[in-house]
Amino acid sequence: MQHDFDTVIDRHGTGSLKWQRYAEEVLPMWVADADFAVSPAITAAIRARLDHPVFGYASADAGLRQTIVTAMAETYGWKIEPEHLLFIPGVVTAFNMALKALLQPGDGVLVQTPAYPPILQAHRNWGLTPVEHVMHPGPHGDYALDLEAFDEAAAASRAFLLCNPHNPTGRVFTRAELAHMAETCLARDLIIIADEIHCDLLFDGRRHIPIASLSPEIAARTITLMSASKTFNIAGLKAAFAIIPDKALRDRVAAAHLGLVGSVNVLGLEATRAAFAEGTPWKDDLVAYLEGNRDWLEEAVRRRLPGIAFRKPEGTYLAWLDCKGIGLNEEAYDFFLRKAKVAFNPGPEFGTPGRDFVRLNFACPRATLEEGVARMERAIKARR
Ligand SMILES: Cc1ncc(COP(=O)(O)O)c(C=O)c1O
Repeated sequence: MQHDFDTVIDRHGTGSLKWQRYAEEVLPMWVADADFAVSPAITAAIRARLDHPVFGYASADAGLRQTIVTAMAETYGWKIEPEHLLFIPGVVTAFNMALKALLQPGDGVLVQTPAYPPILQAHRNWGLTPVEHVMHPGPHGDYALDLEAFDEAAAASRAFLLCNPHNPTGRVFTRAELAHMAETCLARDLIIIADEIHCDLLFDGRRHIPIASLSPEIAARTITLMSASKTFNIAGLKAAFAIIPDKALRDRVAAAHLGLVGSVNVLGLEATRAAFAEGTPWKDDLVAYLEGNRDWLEEAVRRRLPGIAFRKPEGTYLAWLDCKGIGLNEEAYDFFLRKAKVAFNPGPEFGTPGRDFVRLNFACPRATLEEGVARMERAIKARR
């Protein structure tokens, strides 16, 4: 491995949401933000841009658009055009804009629970009706989709807010699952809003399939949302993009700024260009490192954390830990925060199926992950 992911970087005092929320003795393993230094290509691109002394409103240029078009073709065999791209400061902002632009109050929006809280709650912003497709862990904890249940949920919906790879379960949907869901959306005339922000973070040799790449008919009803922000750890630089091949859909989403959504960040655009144009070797090392962390964590949970059930995620750097077996009489999140001094995301924030779960972020140096597990182990032992 060429790049260093082992160095522990002190992020206190850097205006980090992750490291600022809790007292200093708490180890933060929550929000999807990595504790790694960004790739040298990104640092160089931002430094070069800083040499120019003007930082006015930003707009993606033809070069960046073409870089992304080429990446989609090379990575996914998906042919898009530069004008299909709409640059937006964040993916959460983008799916809210799309829901506002394309649905009417009361329309059903289908989400797969447990769900990333801003996905779960987006319906509230626009008076939409939430429709849940519950993903049951199943006897093996593999969260295979119940596609009949999906079809029933789709019958009550106007749009499907897909999250693939799925946060928090770490599922990477198979081509067959995606094809089934896409065909249902086609048959029932649903719009697909596909949050694919974790698309690079796949393990065991899996390949991401953008749902829109399945066929031109599916692409024509899909808004695909991506960003370099998760993979390249630049979420604070506020640059994401939507791919909307259908012009009418695109115009409607573009018109939904509502005076609330500003332009993308000028440094974020530079970082995005560097990520797509030059970031692949770093990205490959990152995924290998994360896969190592995932495997280490799986074994550590099995051996050292009795009462916690965990199945390795297929993608993302998020571990969805089922803490039912510990037999706590309080929320697992509260227990670990108070007794282990480790901060996770509380499972119930991901909907009813998240009861007794916490979400752990393993995008950190191995030493940090080891420290988190050691703290959990001591807290569980101390209760016995
Ligand atoms: C599935 C998913 N979508 C969106 C986001 C956030 O995207 P952004 O910061 O671009 O709004 C995250 C971050 O954790 C996420 O996990």
